[in-house]
Amino acid sequence: MNVSLDRRSMEALEGDVLVVLAFEGKPDERFKESLSEAYASGEVSGKIYEMTVVHRAPGFKAKRLLLAGAGPRENLTPAELRRISGAALRHAKLKSLRNITLFLDGEFAKDPFVTAAAEGAILGDYEPDRYKTEKKDVKVVDSFTVGVAGGEPGLNKALERGRIIAESQNLTRDLVSEPANQLTPLALAEKARLMAGETGLDCEVLDRERMKQLGMGSLLGVAQGSAEPPALIVLRYKPRAAKTSAHLGYVGKGVTFDTGGISIKPADGMEKMKYDMAGGAAMIGTMRALAQLRPPIPVTAIIPAVENMPGSRAQRPGDIVTTLSGKTIEVINTDAEGRLILADALTYAKRLGCTHLVDAATLTGSIVVALGFINVGVFGTDDGLMNQLLEASRFAGEKMWRMPLDDDYREQLKSAFADMTNVGGRPGGAITAAMFLREFADKTPWAHLDIAGTAWLDDAKPFMSKGPSGVGVRTFVELAMSWQE
Ligand code: BES
Ligand code: ZN
Ligand code: ZN
Repeated sequence: MNVSLDRRSMEALEGDVLVVLAFEGKPDERFKESLSEAYASGEVSGKIYEMTVVHRAPGFKAKRLLLAGAGPRENLTPAELRRISGAALRHAKLKSLRNITLFLDGEFAKDPFVTAAAEGAILGDYEPDRYKTEKKDVKVVDSFTVGVAGGEPGLNKALERGRIIAESQNLTRDLVSEPANQLTPLALAEKARLMAGETGLDCEVLDRERMKQLGMGSLLGVAQGSAEPPALIVLRYKPRAAKTSAHLGYVGKGVTFDTGGISIKPADGMEKMKYDMAGGAAMIGTMRALAQLRPPIPVTAIIPAVENMPGSRAQRPGDIVTTLSGKTIEVINTDAEGRLILADALTYAKRLGCTHLVDAATLTGSIVVALGFINVGVFGTDDGLMNQLLEASRFAGEKMWRMPLDDDYREQLKSAFADMTNVGGRPGGAITAAMFLREFADKTPWAHLDIAGTAWLDDAKPFMSKGPSGVGVRTFVELAMSWQE
């Protein structure tokens, strides 16, 4: 899909369909003449995501108008527009319309709105249909144009930024939707290497031998039940002139399939566990965007990639592993594997010089119980980092909610035989998982995102297909781009 700007007036814009925002309340003066009937009939209420097609509207060059419900005018934020843009594109696409223009003017022909409109359209266009060989029902949009009559000259940059971010988020979604027979840990590492080659990032992949030498017993314990070898993926971005002494470490859980291991999961719904590398995929997508947007802060992504299988060499409940940090863990439940691989990855990130850590992981079913499919659960010890992250998430339109971290939960991880267990029981399961990770972040400012409820959409939204959401990418890009000491 080609994405571009057009500075002509609303009436002069061509194409299969011209999307105009229909706000709640009194109709736009400019539509009084041509659309009075549609408004008067009550068909157009302006409620969010309501879509009304009007053919051959008098005074307009475009073949059709699509009145996209946008809610009350004063409430329209870039985050809302991102979704409306996606919903409008999906509505038009379903009707086989191939050239789509979204018109923005006045206060909306501005940077963050143009970026959001482009992002929404590119994200809305995405379908995880790579393995469908029957293409007759597949619809294609050729072009998406943002009409910005009267907008400032810099808007092309805003559009380009939106394109880079959304295409990177779609890369993340591509990786997450790949089934585990196609996307093994080594295959994920190859995809990261390929992306790094294309964008000029540095990429290094540690193999099992190297990890053994380093002493990553916790990560290797998870990997040992699978015939697929593990990989620790490291992607590095360096600014030409850093404006800060900070160094961001982006760590993402990369379990290419989670059977649970010996503590095996029930068969029902297990197919979804191919998404257990969504945190790692989010970091790969983020790095792709950062390589092009070039923030003034160095960023290193660390993705521990393993398959959690119950093979004959698999680790057992009761096994004790020694982590890279030196701390020991009694593995009570082999299905709590994400925290085991993240423990070594967080320690390694610190060794690589990262001063601030952010991890993303489909870590617990417990966060789904707590926050449903709507909010990412965010945990952390450093208020400064937490606030920057939450601010970035609001700007990016990714809903996140801060959860408590409190020393009193630490008791639940007490082990009789090692420094800690890897599970803390059912009560507060997402919190004890975060407490476990905190042991390894230690004194380094750190934030943890549990994306188990938000990385996969079980049902389509008006603005997004069912399947991988790519959650995290926009927030992590924004955090690096707007970094404040
Ligand atoms: N990958 C899962 C988390 C998960 C579970 C995501 C269900 C979505 C739905 C993780 O590795 C896991 O299995 N966690 C366990 C931890 C438990 C054994 C303490 C869980 O949440 O059930
Ligand atoms: Zn698990
Ligand atoms: Zn898992």
